[in-house]
Amino acid sequence: MTDATPQPTCAQKAPYPVQVEAGKSYFWCSCGNSAKQPFCDGTHKGSGFAPLKYTAEKDGQAWFCGCKATGKAPLCDGRHKVL
Ligand code: FES
Ligand code: FES
Repeated sequence: MTDATPQPTCAQKAPYPVQVEAGKSYFWCSCGNSAKQPFCDGTHKGSGFAPLKYTAEKDGQAWFCGCKATGKAPLCDGRHKVL
């Protein structure tokens, strides 16, 4: 059996709370293999994954998905609770 769609690695079954700044961009790791979770460190190269850019609209806390299975990437939508 082959699966053309690469599956991400679950970095952790919980979101990462990050203090973000309005107007600043962040690159969320979609593959789950970055050592700098929840953000991309380039480890995805050659894996078919790419980071997802997120630009904060306002200052405050953002909850970035750590399980990589969210339906609202890059933010947590609670799906980690049913993994
Ligand atoms: Fe995971 Fe870049 S290291 S998307
Ligand atoms: Fe992935 Fe919550 S950490 S959905």
